[in-house]
Amino acid sequence: MRIAFVGKGGSGKTTSAAMFSRYLAELGHPVLAIDADINQHLGSALGHDGPPPRALGTDLAWLKDHLRGTNPRITSADVMIKTTPPGSGSRLLDLAPDGELLRRYSAVAGGVRHLATGEFDEADVGVSCYHLKTGTVELYLNHLVDGPGEYVVVDMTAGADAFASGLFTRFDLTVLVSEPTRRGVGVYRQYAEHAAGHGVALRVLGNKVSDPDDVAFLREQVGDALLGWFGHSAWVRAAERGAVAPIGALEPPNLAVLDAVLAALDDRQRDWAAYHRGSAEFHLRNAAAWANRALGTDLAAQIDPEFVPGPRAARPVRA
Ligand SMILES: Nc1ncnc2c1ncn2[C@@H]1O[C@H](COP(=O)(O)OP(=O)(O)O)[C@@H](O)[C@H]1O
Ligand SMILES: [Mg+2]
Repeated sequence: MRIAFVGKGGSGKTTSAAMFSRYLAELGHPVLAIDADINQHLGSALGHDGPPPRALGTDLAWLKDHLRGTNPRITSADVMIKTTPPGSGSRLLDLAPDGELLRRYSAVAGGVRHLATGEFDEADVGVSCYHLKTGTVELYLNHLVDGPGEYVVVDMTAGADAFASGLFTRFDLTVLVSEPTRRGVGVYRQYAEHAAGHGVALRVLGNKVSDPDDVAFLREQVGDALLGWFGHSAWVRAAERGAVAPIGALEPPNLAVLDAVLAALDDRQRDWAAYHRGSAEFHLRNAAAWANRALGTDLAAQIDPEFVPGPRAARPVRA
């Protein structure tokens, strides 16, 4: 099951993603947290103080070769783009920590295994764009066969940047974190508008809510989409100061919000066929918009018409 935390910069996406990941880990569930934000803070929010894990955006050729496996429709890493969907022969992934990809790229912090896409660096300015790096998350998720009871938590980039690719459609639940302000709920409306028609389950999580007026405001603005709200948290502020306490020590009302988020996520059912149609749709769009021209080949041919990923597809190939 996959959940994305989205919203305005500073709303609390990273904080919420880190708390939810630690909560899942504490419950003993397999969990992988992914930092897909331009500003990479998830590792430190989880309590990581060593060097960051090797970024998924480095060594793209390795990543692409690993994922394309022996898929005859994808002849080289060079013609594999962020939306290239898996097909027969592709390497499907699971969340086992001893898999080759996770051994290569992930690190553990605060009891949570996590992946990072890498900072936007000088070399990216004006030459390529960050989407190349967040594109690796899309590739990763498109090749992942995850089931109920295992979780992927993604800390997304702020605002409408998320719509530069099909990544926003890869989740079972999207949680938009919003402070009780007009700008916060404005970002929600914009997100809901962009996501409409793409099968995105979108809920709002209030954050830094301080009184009943804040709650009333959120209810009035977003109605039933409101999933819950975090108050100002001394636990979060202490963690910011470096005093990271166990997640069980989080204020009980905030802990109850994490319960509600998990219940909403567990309530979702993935339709693998519809999910895979979404992959193909975004791939065709990218092929037509730029990739066919850039690569001088028809990337529509990469779509395997017979193939649907999921538990019934080829068993995940493990290294
Ligand atoms: N519920 C909360 N209580 C106290 N501080 C919070 C809370 N949520 C977020 N913060 C603080 O607000 C700041 C922004 O949060 P962050 O998660 O980094 O936002 P985003 O990832 O959306 O940019 C951080 O300093 C964080 O510690
Ligand atoms: Mg953040």
